[in-house]
Amino acid sequence: MYFYIVQILHQVSLKPYNTFGIEVFAKDFVQLEERSELNELIKLVSAASKILILGGGSNIVFTQSFDGLVIKNNLKGLWIHERHETYSVVRAASGENWHNFVCWTLSKNLYGLENLSLIPGSVGASPIQNIGAYGIELKNTFESLEALHLKTGKIVSFKASECEFGYRESVFKHALKNQYLIVSVSFRLQHEPNTQVSYGAIKSVLASNQIAQPKPQDVANAVIQIRKNKLPDPKVLGNAGSFFKNPEIDAVLFNRLQKKHPEIIHYLQPSGRYKIAAGWLIEQCGFKGFKYKGAGVHTEQALVLVNATGNAQGNDVLELSKIIQTKVLDCFEIGLETEVNVL
Ligand code: EPU
Repeated sequence: MYFYIVQILHQVSLKPYNTFGIEVFAKDFVQLEERSELNELIKLVSAASKILILGGGSNIVFTQSFDGLVIKNNLKGLWIHERHETYSVVRAASGENWHNFVCWTLSKNLYGLENLSLIPGSVGASPIQNIGAYGIELKNTFESLEALHLKTGKIVSFKASECEFGYRESVFKHALKNQYLIVSVSFRLQHEPNTQVSYGAIKSVLASNQIAQPKPQDVANAVIQIRKNKLPDPKVLGNAGSFFKNPEIDAVLFNRLQKKHPEIIHYLQPSGRYKIAAGWLIEQCGFKGFKYKGAGVHTEQALVLVNATGNAQGNDVLELSKIIQTKVLDCFEIGLETEVNVL
């Protein structure tokens, strides 16, 4: 007789599992707790019509119920994997909460992730979209990851060069989409601090807290303070962080726009193109605090769409995002791309 360790549930509400707090249902639902369950999981995956792997559910908007198998990844574990003279390689299981992991690295005096404090979501999701904030991206400290190939059941290791990291991008969003379950992620963290405080908001918080020589924990605290002020806490107001990417435009369009809007917020890229603050574009179009059905635009950060009533449907959010895209295109000739996954 075969005893299943993994328990399959049916018609499970996904509301607690997505930070937008949208009520949809999963036809089949399992929670992955241990690495030893991976073999069994492979069997369930091969029998499923389609699958969705959920980490923290912090970068997704559900517009319909999921007619397949949802796997909630709860794999846990944090290890110092290798100790070298100037750096250590740490490994985190993919179901670990990202911010808890960052706090753990700081408690071990290992540095490099402090600017990425308080980003919602799980460790396993972090490389998929190469999370980034306040001048740092995951790829700056990424060492490697282990992933389960869902067809063969083999665990494969990926180096940074194989992940094809870009701005909120990786190979796992494109060529290898839905083919792997990330099991663990390793980071190379430094023993000596090398704090990155070039980002304006960090500088001003440190100055107002009168910290001239910030330690990594001071930077983490500053980031936490900035995020708490600008970004809504998903436990209080459902959201998935930035809804759109900051768009990149060519110099011709940029020069034309800057003549009309000298204050346009922009970042010159090494390529000679310009990245534009999407939040600024959306705010200029008058959307800050705008409400549409159950959805809305956050009052402090126009790049963040929110579940304004607590009962928003995914389609309310999606329709609002389309209204914004149309208006921004009209006003600035810029097409905004979504940053969250719409399902
Ligand atoms: N701005 C406005 N109006 C707004 C929002 C922003 O004028 O409504 C201006 C700000 O004043 C600032 C500039 O736009 O001058 C940039 O704003 P902010 O510093 O808040 O960052 P962002 O570019 O809007 C990006 C990331 C965030 C990350 C922050 C900090 C993307 C899509 N978003 O936002 O990441 O926390 O930088 O580094 O790149 C996420 O990915 O979910 C996320 C929250």
